Amino acid sequence: MSGSAITPWVVGNWKMNPMRADAKQLVQELKQLLQDHVIDESQCHIGVAPISLALSNVQAQLSAGNRTVYTVAQDLSRIAGTGAYTGEISAELLKDSGIDFVLVGHSERREIFGDSPAIVNEKVKNAIDAGLTVIYCVGESLEQRENGQAEQTVLQQICDIASVVQADQWERVVVAYEPIWAIGTGKTASPADAQAMHAKIREGLSQITPMGQSMAILYGGSVKPENAVELAACPDINGALVGGASLNAESFYKIAHAFANTK
Ligand code: PGA
Repeated sequence: MSGSAITPWVVGNWKMNPMRADAKQLVQELKQLLQDHVIDESQCHIGVAPISLALSNVQAQLSAGNRTVYTVAQDLSRIAGTGAYTGEISAELLKDSGIDFVLVGHSERREIFGDSPAIVNEKVKNAIDAGLTVIYCVGESLEQRENGQAEQTVLQQICDIASVVQADQWERVVVAYEPIWAIGTGKTASPADAQAMHAKIREGLSQITPMGQSMAILYGGSVKPENAVELAACPDINGALVGGASLNAESFYKIAHAFANTK
């Protein structure tokens, strides 16, 4: 399977947003758009990642829609199971609440909350072992890019998790390439630069697992309706992880529509 034959994923990362009433309205508007202008599941998988407190509510609200929209957790504990770990939510507890997807290794977790490669590995392992699908985020800083270390940094992040993902588990890993300098800044990697990195990531994945050829590799970092078509046209960009623009139902819908129709 070539990169462009993969069903794209468009996932909205709501981060620490929005207030409850706004979240309810956002989901309602998204459902309405998907009802009025259908995007078939076979054309694009769609997911949203609300704050953990809202996972169940959002999931219940989405379940009444005319197509599947997955509810995705933004993070999970590095501790598995249950126990005396104040404030934590394990992979098993997410799964028990009907959540099947989780982001791991987002640069905000790595940079602000100290998620080191070792911690990220524990989270990936716990999530995969509990039966979740992981959206594994990688990406270089501006400094690393300017020093010519972008590719090496990202490929190292891919290699990092190879020790915890078993051969038959790679089908439950989706990679999201998010150059840190493009997140929330309005700056997007050019489609050519993004495609070049995605091709390198696919090459790296393919050296680890034969599934590398069929894995979805999403782009993230200031994706918006205005740049979605160009990004979607790149053969190894199999979807988008969308932050800011996912807080507006119409923008998010348009991005999903771009990927569904360009792929
Ligand atoms: P952004 O965020 O779209 O607001 O740049 C993307 C992300 O952090 O996942």
